[in-house]
Amino acid sequence: MSKIIVAGGKKLEGEIRIPGAKNTVLPILAATLISGKKSVIHDCPLISDVKLTLEILRQLGCEVAIEGNSITVDSSGFDCTILTEEWMHKMRSSIILTGAILSRCGRVRTSYPGGCELGLRPIDLHIKAFKDMGVRVEEQFGYIDCIMEHPKPCDIHLGFPSVGATENIMLAAVGIKGTTRIINAAKEPEIEDLQVFLNAIGAKVRGAGTSVIEIQGVGSFRDAEHTVIPDRIVAATYMAAAAITASTVEVANVNTEHISSIIAALREMGVKICRTRRNSLVVSGNARLQPLNILRTTPYPGFPTDAQSVFTTLLSVADGTSILIESIFDQRFKHIDELIKMGADITVDGRTAVIKGVERLYGAKVNAPDLRSGAALVIAGLRADGLTTVDEISHIERGYEDIVRDLSSLGAEIKRID
Ligand code: UD1
Repeated sequence: MSKIIVAGGKKLEGEIRIPGAKNTVLPILAATLISGKKSVIHDCPLISDVKLTLEILRQLGCEVAIEGNSITVDSSGFDCTILTEEWMHKMRSSIILTGAILSRCGRVRTSYPGGCELGLRPIDLHIKAFKDMGVRVEEQFGYIDCIMEHPKPCDIHLGFPSVGATENIMLAAVGIKGTTRIINAAKEPEIEDLQVFLNAIGAKVRGAGTSVIEIQGVGSFRDAEHTVIPDRIVAATYMAAAAITASTVEVANVNTEHISSIIAALREMGVKICRTRRNSLVVSGNARLQPLNILRTTPYPGFPTDAQSVFTTLLSVADGTSILIESIFDQRFKHIDELIKMGADITVDGRTAVIKGVERLYGAKVNAPDLRSGAALVIAGLRADGLTTVDEISHIERGYEDIVRDLSSLGAEIKRID
């Protein structure tokens, strides 16, 4: 099994460019199914989740071409309305394809994505919204059949601003005549980018980025070209790499507004961050980071749950005690046992972690329990004394094109062993 080995203690320097966002590419690739036309998407990270999505699109009848980081999807030949259990199992976010297929074909057969590394991942909000929109949902033999029986525009009140449910409703509503409104919609930047793409193919969507989104159904679509926004979580990871090694690194291709909560938390910890040119930040860490009284993950524009694990690593070497509260997912502390193996002093009670900063971390053999936790362990390895071996790196490859290449380019002593 492939692993990453990091020798800690090296200073980093240089510039790193942040790729397009995983969490935007996935719903946008789903949205390419709606138009029946050609869509060209630029700055797509070639991560394993994207590769799997492209494989699914091919099997659904689309033509897919990859040139560098640009992906062309021609969905004119799309002719299948079944999402297999295997796909749903491999990638929970394939659920996003259901809204797009409903929009285009009026029916889809799928299955429950099941739990995952982050705990229970229900899709009740997606299903309830589909029913509100006039979709008949039938469950049997582990399948969920969704049939757009009496499509009706309506107001959908989300009990929680779920990112995936908001995206799925936007996708499905494009195919319903009239105006559908999502109230208490997620406000994440990825939703705004999906709106930009949907409007590019000819849909009429507005309000993304606020808590009310309006989607007007349309009947005809066109070819489109779109560049994906930068990945704010990859940006947070490489900013953390500079912070924890007390190095100065330029992080290019970032949207500073999208990462304002991350910038604020790093500044509070004593990290210097300045803007050099448009969309570029210079990040300088210092030898002893300051603790944070309370860091709580919340929906955007709050602090992102996806950056929680790398911040656990940073706070584990801060000069004092920090409290971390994970309010989005119920099992998102799996990196903590691994950090403890490396010498961190952290206690967990439910969704709260009390992190007492230690002066040193020590290299150890650790497992990447999920995507973001894996990245957090690699970042810990940059600081630890000696060698850190991170196993099960397929999780990391779901969201980072090549974390070894990126950190090596900044001078880290890091390698991958297959
Ligand atoms: C997306 C992101 C993920 C990020 C998360 C929160 C993608 C591919 N993934 O995941 O990286 O961590 O947003 O920012 O974009 N929930 C329900 N019922 C539902 C749907 C969600 O109870 O029907 C709960 C979830 O269990 C979780 C919370 O709502 O506790 C947030 O989930 P959601 O915002 O839907 O996250 P995802 O879209 O799955």
